[in-house]
Amino acid sequence: MLRDILLERKRDKEQEYTLHLFEYCNLRCSFCWQDHENIVGLDTITEKLIPIEKFLQTETRDSVVFNAMGGEIFAPEIFNQNLLQQYKDLTLGIKNLGLKYNKKVKINWVTNLVTDKYNEIDELMNYSKEVGVHSEMVTSYDPRGRFNRNDLEQFKKSMEYFGDRVTCISMLLNGPNIDYILQDKDAYFKKLYNEGKYIYFDYYMPDSSAEYQYPTAQDMLNVFKHFIDKYPKVHPIADWIENEKNYLSCRTSKLVLADGTMCNCGNLVQEEKSIKFYKSKIESMDNSGIEESFLNKYDCISCEYFDRCGLGCFMQHDYKFREELDECVYKLTHRYIDDVRLSRRAEPVECQTTPQH
Ligand SMILES: C[S@@+](CC[C@H](N)C(=O)[O-])C[C@H]1O[C@@H](n2cnc3c(N)ncnc32)[C@H](O)[C@@H]1O
Ligand code: SF4
Ligand code: SF4
Repeated sequence: MLRDILLERKRDKEQEYTLHLFEYCNLRCSFCWQDHENIVGLDTITEKLIPIEKFLQTETRDSVVFNAMGGEIFAPEIFNQNLLQQYKDLTLGIKNLGLKYNKKVKINWVTNLVTDKYNEIDELMNYSKEVGVHSEMVTSYDPRGRFNRNDLEQFKKSMEYFGDRVTCISMLLNGPNIDYILQDKDAYFKKLYNEGKYIYFDYYMPDSSAEYQYPTAQDMLNVFKHFIDKYPKVHPIADWIENEKNYLSCRTSKLVLADGTMCNCGNLVQEEKSIKFYKSKIESMDNSGIEESFLNKYDCISCEYFDRCGLGCFMQHDYKFREELDECVYKLTHRYIDDVRLSRRAEPVECQTTPQH
């Protein structure tokens, strides 16, 4: 089908596997769907290699990035020698599976950095290097609903300690964060931006607290315009400004949950209390239903911005109570980028001061 061919060339060539090793966490972010007291999975880290191998058996991409996360993998209360050894074994297991299935593998350790377990983290990263698995650390920063004062201090300390070893800082576009971002008074965010850190704004996926967290399409448009005007280097905005063609934001992530369940991203909210918020039936191993309804709703295939656009998060747009604008919020954003470009082009050029010969 033409639609499949068009979409296929917009899919990232690197497949993402997200490993929720367990849900236990030392923080209680207000937007997070997980059960942070739950210790299921803590002692079965390497058993996740079984579902990972099942995914790999039918994997068509040559390159796989593993986002290994909790909950919080480096939470001081649980990150002991035993857990460190399990992470090392997981790393070695992933390396061996990569060799067996002829895949290039990489691991992102996803952490909230509210931890002082620096020796253990250093040991894990060094081990990864020794066995030849490329590993990076990625983190999250939210000005609202994430840190208390002490947690924020610990986070900042860790950012200083690990420096450029933290390769991505993800921030969430939920309602409270957007309200705060638009006030433009977050000095720490400005510091990160000015240091040239890779900052990625992620789409909020509705769960049972969506009533308080969900951004309207107007909120999204406002914050996108704010970034275009003041922070054009944050992602994915920088990609929309700089690239003619971009991959889909939705990486159709393959997931392994704490108990070993295999699924696609939509299954995260399969709980009874969350699932009623969605228009489509969410299938555990197949995202094509929500993808299809998004493409039909906006008629993306005939849109002038199809190549440049990332098409957002399909789960977010499937939310029953979404407050839409008359036109697609991404289309309005791409048009705004073009308008800003045109108006800059129309600005008077500087006068020539050196004499011409
Ligand atoms: C579940 S956390 C686990 C890793 C680690 N504890 C952290 O916060 O980075 C992984 C990512 O999911 C994001 N997240 C949490 N709740 C979300 C939601 N409702 N929609 C979208 N992303 C969410 C977090 O902000 C974080 O970047
Ligand atoms: S730190 Fe991560 S896992 Fe913990 S509550 Fe926050 S988003 Fe959820
Ligand atoms: S701008 Fe809107 S309609 Fe156009 S491709 Fe992107 S999501 Fe689809």
